[in-house]
Amino acid sequence: MIQSALVNVMVKAARRAGRSLKRDLGEIENLQVSLKGPANFVSAADRRAEEMLYDDLTKARPGYGFVGEEGGTREGADKTNTWIVDPLDGTTNFLHGIPQFAISIGLQREGVIVAGVIYNPANDELYIAERGKGAFLNDTRLRVAGRKQLKDCVIACGLPHIGRGDHELSRREMTQIQERVAGLRRFGAASLDMAFVAAGRLDGYWERNLKPWDVAAGIIMVREAGGTVSGIEGGDSALETGNVVCGNEIIQSELVKILKPLG
Ligand code: IPD
Ligand code: CA
Ligand code: CA
Repeated sequence: MIQSALVNVMVKAARRAGRSLKRDLGEIENLQVSLKGPANFVSAADRRAEEMLYDDLTKARPGYGFVGEEGGTREGADKTNTWIVDPLDGTTNFLHGIPQFAISIGLQREGVIVAGVIYNPANDELYIAERGKGAFLNDTRLRVAGRKQLKDCVIACGLPHIGRGDHELSRREMTQIQERVAGLRRFGAASLDMAFVAAGRLDGYWERNLKPWDVAAGIIMVREAGGTVSGIEGGDSALETGNVVCGNEIIQSELVKILKPLG
C-alpha cells in the first residue's frame, strides 16, 4: 500500500465524492420509473461530485491547476502541477443503475502523470498508483496479466455511442479483434477498463476518442502494474490523442499491430 501524503489527499477526496455518488445511485432507482427519468438528476450529481473534488484537492494543494470534465480548466499559480479529474466516469452505467462507474483523479507534473486514483464507490474498489511506487487495488499490489497469445485473452473496448465517433471504423476494429481473442467486452467506464488491465482481470483494452480525464489515472495505473500504454498510432500519445491501447508488453503490441492500419 502507498502511504504518501499526496495519495492520501487523492484518496480522501475520492472517498468523499464517492459517498455522494453512492447516495445518488440509490435515488436513481426511484427516478427510473418517473416519466422525466433521472438524466437531470445525474448531471447534477456529476457536477456536485466535481465541486467536492475541486474543493478538497485545491484545499490540500493550493495553487495546483485543475482540469475537470464538467467545469473545464481552472488555472492555478503553480503551472507544473495539474489535477485531471473525471468526477463520474461511466455516466451511462450510473444513469441505468449499473454499478460500473468511477471517480478518476490523475496528477500531471511537468507533463507526466505521476499519481492516479480510480474509485468505484458502488463496490468500494479503490485503485491507487504513484510513480515508482507501484499500483494497488485496496491493499493488494497489482500486476498485469501474463498471457502471451491473443487467443487466450479477454480484451475490452469502447464503442462510440449515437452521434459520436466513427461507427464504421469501430465495427471494423471489433471484427478484427473478435476473431482472434477468447472474449471481447464493453464495460462502459474507461478508467475502470484500464484499472482492470492493471489488475490482470483484462488482458488488454483499446478505445478511440477519449478525453484526458478518462485516461490520466488509468495510464499510471497500468504502467505501475508493469503494463504498457500507447496511442493506437503507437508511441506515448494516449493522453494527447485520446486513442489508447494497453496490456502487457506483448498483448499491447499485438493490438497495435492490428488496430493501427485500420485507422
Ligand atoms: C465515457 C466512458 C465510456 C467511454 C466514453 C467516455 P463518461 O465517459 O469512459 O466508457 O466509452 O467514451 O466518454 O462520459 O461516462 O464520463
Ligand atoms: Ca469519462
Ligand atoms: Ca464523466
